[in-house]
Amino acid sequence: MKKNIPIYVRVPVIFAIVFGAMEFFIDSGDRPAFVKYPMVALFLAVFLFLLIAIEMVVSAVDNVTYHLLTDEQKKQLEEAKSFNLSENKAFLKVKSWFVKTRPLELENEILLHHDYDGIQELDNDLPPWWKNLFYACIIFGVIYMAKYHIFGSPSQSEEFQVEMAEAKLAVEEYKKNAKDLIDAESVTLLTDASEIAAGKKVFETNCVACHRPDGGGSIGPNLTDEHWILGGGIKNIFHTISEGGRDGKGMVAWKGTLKPSEIQQVASYVISLKGTNPTDAKAPEGDLYIEENAEKPAEKTVALVK
Ligand code: HEC
Repeated sequence: MKKNIPIYVRVPVIFAIVFGAMEFFIDSGDRPAFVKYPMVALFLAVFLFLLIAIEMVVSAVDNVTYHLLTDEQKKQLEEAKSFNLSENKAFLKVKSWFVKTRPLELENEILLHHDYDGIQELDNDLPPWWKNLFYACIIFGVIYMAKYHIFGSPSQSEEFQVEMAEAKLAVEEYKKNAKDLIDAESVTLLTDASEIAAGKKVFETNCVACHRPDGGGSIGPNLTDEHWILGGGIKNIFHTISEGGRDGKGMVAWKGTLKPSEIQQVASYVISLKGTNPTDAKAPEGDLYIEENAEKPAEKTVALVK
């Protein structure tokens, strides 16, 4: 069989199969694997080189052994080589699944009896590929009906819903583990006791020197009142801690020292100090800050009452 496929077909086909397999199995994003990973390109080059080398060696060995054969053996070899595909039984069988031709001399057996000004018609069978496809469709239809309409497998839209729900869970899981993706825009107020406790720890380690352990303020302003120089609410406070206060006032940007999740915790802790009224606290500085969200529901209720 090997001898029936000439070398100029064999080598490119084997190479194409290996190349295709590499591209299929190596995950290289939107770029071809052999571009992204130079090792793959190198491997393919070496592989091609070896393939050609092996072909050359094998044909050289064949040549040499041929000359060593006796005339009788040469004849046998020629016979073995003269393999004809169109006489091969297995091939004919496979071919008969797809095409079926009636020999010309038997055509009169299927000639229909009408004759249109000399134009006659043959009653040929439908081509086997067509019929087999038709039967395959029937079998497919039966299996499909049984699977989806009798045994109730989930439909495409149900599968879609399930996958979306799973994906949503995965995103939530990812967000939980990727706490440090937050910034001043996306930050939310933490209220869990454990998070507030973690915020307190950060505060005690980094902030008490200027804001006092109770947040009453010394070098830095009082953090327990409702007045804010740089804006209250979780977003503004997160921004102040992460980017620092006004130049020269002494409040540095903490984003280099603290992780975003820690800034979120300490900002939430600072907010939790509101109204604790520590003794000898600094006088309020800045403007009274009213939480935006606190007002909105009130407006809505008024609108509803009207
Ligand atoms: C070196 C002293 C110092 C340290 C340490 C310090 N701060 Fe400050 N902080 C200040 C000063 C001074 C201001 C006022 C900044 C301004 O007026 O622009 C301030 C302002 C703030 C404000 C804004 C207050 C407002 O009214 O808008 C917050 C919130 C704050 N600090 C939180 C923290 C937190 C949390 C830490 C610890 C991670 C911290 N600070 C550490 C000195 C400090």
